[in-house]
Amino acid sequence: MAITISIGSGKGGTGKSMVIANLGLLLAKAGRRVCVADLDLGGADIHILYGFFEPETTLTDFLTRKVESLAEITHTLDSFGGLQIIAGSGNTLQTANMTFQEKQRLLRGLSSIDTDILLIDVGAGTSFHALDFFMFSDIQICVTNPEPTAIMDFYNFLQLATIRKALSSFLSTGEVGKALKEHRFETLAEVFALAEDIQPGAKEHAQQALTSFNPLLITNMAGVNAKINQLKLRKLVSKYLSIYIPDLGDIPLDNTVKEAMRAYLPVCEYSPKAPASQALVAISAKLEKVIDLFNKKRQR
Ligand SMILES: Nc1ncnc2c1ncn2[C@@H]1O[C@H](COP(=O)(O)OP(=O)(O)OP(=O)(O)O)[C@@H](O)[C@H]1O
Ligand SMILES: [Mg+2]
Repeated sequence: MAITISIGSGKGGTGKSMVIANLGLLLAKAGRRVCVADLDLGGADIHILYGFFEPETTLTDFLTRKVESLAEITHTLDSFGGLQIIAGSGNTLQTANMTFQEKQRLLRGLSSIDTDILLIDVGAGTSFHALDFFMFSDIQICVTNPEPTAIMDFYNFLQLATIRKALSSFLSTGEVGKALKEHRFETLAEVFALAEDIQPGAKEHAQQALTSFNPLLITNMAGVNAKINQLKLRKLVSKYLSIYIPDLGDIPLDNTVKEAMRAYLPVCEYSPKAPASQALVAISAKLEKVIDLFNKKRQR
């Protein structure tokens, strides 16, 4: 069974596609079987980062039922370590109106892909779809930038994700689950307060569930202030969202990333010695350790 890893952010343009394109390649080169799925429903572009311009089939073919299985739209990139890719649809209308059943069909399809590691780009923003795809995975990664606006959006994104996680922890506890279902919550504190009102001890139950939600943080386009901001951010999410976000690493602002993009190559392939490439190699090695740990736990 594949381990699924989803990558999201609040703000657009933080570098998710760049990170996925490079991590996919590095993990494949490390001998892992990797599949990259582009579920960014508006701005699907990962295939282009590999210079793969016109995939004959994309996610649209699966969503419109032209094909029945995701295997039929999975392409193998031989020149990138045999990496597999499912190109996104980029068809916002098609995907924005996805019904519950259609989404379930897609998620079932993703679960049955024959690979070891499935990397999912969920796109930017806090739409229902983006959050569903994000929470679907075994491991979550957030890519943010050090600027205050990116950090604010990242915090909001995390807050909505924790609300979902807390709510899903009540699904099996009849009373609380039923009462919370109809509500639209804006803060996690509201969820805690209402749950505790209905059933004393419910807040602790939800907090317990949140201890298993540990999205990994990548700070991209990092400068000297990134570390300081991260400390503040960690305190904030621990206090208000009851979660811990482990650090996966920083990637410096590096013009080589843009050069590589213009050459239609992941920067790790285009210029392995560039600062951004070296940072990505370190992140990939750390991620491999997280993956191995997860697989070990799953086997127990
Ligand atoms: N470390 C970096 N140094 C310099 N430029 C970078 C870096 N990371 C990303 N970029 C540039 O930032 C832009 C956005 O990157 P990318 O498309 O990967 O972001 P994204 O989060 O996927 O965006 P979207 O939310 O629109 O999907 C690109 O032009 C990319 O070349
Ligand atoms: Mg992108």
